Amino acid sequence: MDLAAVEADLTEVLISEEEIKAKIAELARQIEADYTDDDDVLLVGVLKGAVMVMADLARELKLHLTMDWMAVSSYGSGTQSSGVVRILKDLDTDLTGRKVLIVEDIIDSGLTLSWLRANLESRGAESVEICAFLRKPEAAKVQVDCKYVGFEIPNAFVVGYGLDYAERYRNLAGIGVLAPHVYENAEA
Ligand code: IMP
Ligand code: MG
Repeated sequence: MDLAAVEADLTEVLISEEEIKAKIAELARQIEADYTDDDDVLLVGVLKGAVMVMADLARELKLHLTMDWMAVSSYGSGTQSSGVVRILKDLDTDLTGRKVLIVEDIIDSGLTLSWLRANLESRGAESVEICAFLRKPEAAKVQVDCKYVGFEIPNAFVVGYGLDYAERYRNLAGIGVLAPHVYENAEA
């Protein structure tokens, strides 16, 4: 769905479909420079937000790779981080000796990713790197070494391209800032 279709729910269009496509290609070229086919890279997508990034990035990469998925929860249906990370769905893959690249939609507080990286490292992976499509300024406060970052964005609640508010807007082709009236009404 086009961003224009939900114009009234957004205060700003942040990243267009075309800008997303160009950035995915840019990220893929960076990643290709760091791995070979022999590395048999395992892309770990974090459900559900990273579905779009994962699908686009994996197809753009000229690299033999495998994919697996994890679902973790650090947010409720609102816009505030709870600080608690729970595994809702674990990987099917044994990580021993694997080169892992975590694919995430966004780093906000960084809580989710710093926890996730430590968790995957503890399973015997040879390396664990992170590719986050978006990064908010808050992330600078915690030590998350994210090797591949798409866009640095302002500290606003954004939706689209996999990112949701209360499970909606994930299917928007671009990324926009959610208008406060949408969540203020819901949380009142
Ligand atoms: P963190 O643990 O605070 O870094 O939060 C990471 C997760 O929170 C992301 O994977 C998203 O699912 C969610 N999140 C953070 N910021 C936003 C946002 O602006 N829009 C939608 N989801 C967000
Ligand atoms: Mg997420």
